[in-house]
Amino acid sequence: MTHFSHKAGILHAEDVAVPTIADAVGTPFYCYSSATMLARYHAYTKALAGLRATVYYAVKANSNLAVIRTFAGAGAGADVVSVGEMQRSLAAGIPADKIVFAGVGKTREELAAALKAGIHQINIESEAELRALSDVAQAIGAKATAGLRVNPDVDARTHAKITTGRKENKFGIDLDEAPRMFTLAASLPGVSMTSLSVHIGSQLTDISPYRDAYARLRDITLELRAAGHRIDHLDLGGGLGIAYDAETPPNLEAYAAIVREQVGDLDCALSFEPGRYLVGDAGILVTRVVYVKQGGEKRFVIADAAMNDLIRPTLYEAYHEIVTVAEANSAASATLGSCDLVGPICESGDYLAKDCALPVVAEGDLLAIRSAGAYGAVMSSTYNSRPLIPEVLVNAGGFAVIRRRQSVEEAMDLEQIPDWLGDPAEPERG
Ligand code: LLP
Repeated sequence: MTHFSHKAGILHAEDVAVPTIADAVGTPFYCYSSATMLARYHAYTKALAGLRATVYYAVKANSNLAVIRTFAGAGAGADVVSVGEMQRSLAAGIPADKIVFAGVGKTREELAAALKAGIHQINIESEAELRALSDVAQAIGAKATAGLRVNPDVDARTHAKITTGRKENKFGIDLDEAPRMFTLAASLPGVSMTSLSVHIGSQLTDISPYRDAYARLRDITLELRAAGHRIDHLDLGGGLGIAYDAETPPNLEAYAAIVREQVGDLDCALSFEPGRYLVGDAGILVTRVVYVKQGGEKRFVIADAAMNDLIRPTLYEAYHEIVTVAEANSAASATLGSCDLVGPICESGDYLAKDCALPVVAEGDLLAIRSAGAYGAVMSSTYNSRPLIPEVLVNAGGFAVIRRRQSVEEAMDLEQIPDWLGDPAEPERG
């Protein structure tokens, strides 16, 4: 269930007509529904009821301050993978002690910043990083609370670029290395490590990889305890998929049942790091048709949004459903063949949908690209010198611009022409 639906033939975000927002901010833009985000968050926490569980929103999915703030207000913590995401989370009102920091390449500077901010936990992914964390903590007179991310070597059966729990992936530490890492941690003065974490991938549509990964986590927990190590905390990662198309991702109750079955009796505090599940369906990308072109083989609908705004179709061959903002006349559309929805960028890889069954559309029509709330705006770029587009948050009958459109001047402001190249305002020297 999402809060984007047609009312009287016009797509609405909650109670706001999408064309009203388009008139106010121009196109393209991202539009998010507060109600969908909160409904997903509450469904997640409800499914985990009875477990000692904390939900850390995976900020990487959508790091807009207002989005983080929405989850902060609902009581969520934040899972961050950079100091930038940590700063955003703090600025949005997530308490430091509800922030966990993950990632394979945290620099000493980043570790120091996290320790100084007093965040809850730092998840370690290598021996070198464990030693660095202890050094950094000692230097600033702190004791770091660390967790060890293990790599359970299970196949998440998702897209190759977003699977993380196989031995060949760069993430985590082999399970058989874990005992040595805990022994090492016990000997290091700057760290206290009593937690294990696992995250096997994103957009999981099958429950069995979770069962396998959590079973392995259970086994290693028992093994470590038998060797005298204290394990009182398990971080179970994120990754629960959403239905972009005809997928049938496991429902929350099935997921929670696996959690209970595998690790429910270990007397551990549990952490979860959902990103996509909370925000994916809570966002659409709204774009306007610039031209319609009948190619030799197919119809191209050329829109004003492009791969720089939403890279997922190009990068992962991801499918996103496209709907017209004004409800289409299905009888008139029935005879149309499929088409590609493309952007203005100078690459054949610039498409938002391939071979999709779009109805009759004409120049100026608005289209909505669904399920664009996760890994949409955050992965955008200014390729082809296309400024970053606005993000709008809807709340019942109201909406607010939560990131304004960047101007080309703002983008150019970061750059400078060195003196030796001459002043562009004096062309004779240039
Ligand atoms: N925890 C860790 C350690 C992660 O690496 C991730 C995602 C998450 C949690 C949240 O996963 P989620 O619940 O959102 O699936 N850009 C890709 C997805 C990359 C996911 C990276 N890690 C995409 O557009 O599909």
